[in-house]
Amino acid sequence: MGLNIISRRHFLGRTAGLAAGTFAGPNLLLKGQNAAGKKLRLAVIGANGKGQSDTQGVTLDHTIVALVDVDKKRLDEAAKKREKHHLDSGKEAPNAPKLYQDFRKMFDEMANEIDGVIVSTPDHTHYVAAMHAIKHGKHVCVQKPLCNYIAEVRDLHRAAKEAKLTTQMGNQGRTMEGQRLAKEWIEQGAIGTLKEIRLWTNRPIWPQGPLVKKAAECPAELDWDLWLSSEASEPYFEFEIPAGVNGKRGNSVHPFNWRGWWQFGSGALGDMGCHIMDATFSILGQIIPEKIDATSSPISDTCAPVWSDLVYHMPAGKHGALKVSWNDGSKDGKPNKPEISPHMTSELAKKAFEKASSGMMFIGTEGTVFEGEAYCGSPVIYNEERYTQVRIDTKAGKIKKTETRSVMPNNPQGEWAHHVVNGGLPSSNFDYSCPLTEFVLLGNLAVRAQQSVQWDKQGMKVSNAEAPNKYVSRPAYREGWKP
Ligand SMILES: NC(=O)c1ccc[n+]([C@@H]2O[C@H](COP(=O)([O-])OP(=O)(O)OC[C@H]3O[C@@H](n4cnc5c(N)ncnc54)[C@H](O)[C@@H]3O)[C@@H](O)[C@H]2O)c1
Repeated sequence: MGLNIISRRHFLGRTAGLAAGTFAGPNLLLKGQNAAGKKLRLAVIGANGKGQSDTQGVTLDHTIVALVDVDKKRLDEAAKKREKHHLDSGKEAPNAPKLYQDFRKMFDEMANEIDGVIVSTPDHTHYVAAMHAIKHGKHVCVQKPLCNYIAEVRDLHRAAKEAKLTTQMGNQGRTMEGQRLAKEWIEQGAIGTLKEIRLWTNRPIWPQGPLVKKAAECPAELDWDLWLSSEASEPYFEFEIPAGVNGKRGNSVHPFNWRGWWQFGSGALGDMGCHIMDATFSILGQIIPEKIDATSSPISDTCAPVWSDLVYHMPAGKHGALKVSWNDGSKDGKPNKPEISPHMTSELAKKAFEKASSGMMFIGTEGTVFEGEAYCGSPVIYNEERYTQVRIDTKAGKIKKTETRSVMPNNPQGEWAHHVVNGGLPSSNFDYSCPLTEFVLLGNLAVRAQQSVQWDKQGMKVSNAEAPNKYVSRPAYREGWKP
């Protein structure tokens, strides 16, 4: 397929259809309808990259009826990889899905043949793709962060709720056992009183910092105009990588390197925050900060910084008022990490901290819950004697399992599909993951504003300054793209 220039008439035709409510997707009522063994008909938008492993999460139990990718070569490759996954799993080759470069064309042609949609595109397309799916009455599973603007997150939440759809964000940590254990330990006094939380990541591992666009030839297999989707049309570009910026992944935004551009991604915080801040958000009772302080390396209007340091001021809730700090990137060639917890004094603890390129420390009066990965999949407690006691108490039933367990740990796509069929709520359904994404994106608001921001949650606006409010909503949508 060549470059797809979509006409204004085409846009208006679609938009008029949306407004008139003419989307005729099946309004699934699977719950109770002989749900056992029910196979969903699923479409994946953004079929390669993360979309490929997201497809693997559901393809053996359900039917993939369509794969969509704006890059023809990557689309064909995604279809082949899916087939290989079936064969490698000892299954027969699966049905051949319909292949599209434009998800709107897919909805036009086969909306009636789709029950649910997985969205695994770059961040800037999550909102438009998921909203198209929702308006067609499709259940949705959307990669993290749900959107890269807070106003879009709220809009998506409202629309999915009104349509009574089963929703999920792809933050796999939320489905894991470890995150539940950490919450139960802390709530049941394993580390005394929770006083402070320190979070960090070595990201960005892609170019981020003051990048400058330069004209380049678009690869023949890529439909650049569709890749831009709701963003204003502009010629394909690559960028210069200045000294001090990690350039290992090359200098084009597609694939993967869109992350550092505010237009398309959400920087290191947006990329990793929905993982690393997830356990914090859950443990603190899903509350939103009152104020966020930010300092960072120089930013431009277009790109996120090489490093940033944030402090989230959390009001009292399940725990007393406390600070959550976030450090990302590297400073002077060294990982930008917080200070180690005072409970982590043993050699073992120091080594674990040193090794952790991303992680979290929940620091209490009597001990620290430490996780040296992004997902909080296998937390431990320092010091070691306290951890031994916690394990004894857990075995003896003194520390109880109070959190609901996932039916499919580490497979948010499979878990979502299970709940579409059987009812019940996926671990990271939008009632949870929309506020979590807002929590994460508030840090970006402070970074972009280069100042402390106070957040008026009711009013969805920064209350101590006017200028940062321009970062709450996407500045503009190309005509015809906003459903
Ligand atoms: N949960 C996780 O652990 C995890 C890990 C990696 C990425 N992600 C998320 O997955 C998403 C994709 O990230 P990635 O690293 O795979 O990016 P990527 O750029 O490597 O891959 C995205 C794919 O989507 C395609 N695409 C782009 N625009 C499209 C459009 N409008 N319609 C259809 N296809 C389109 C691209 O051609 C590409 O094949 C991001 O939101 C990212 O944050 C999540």
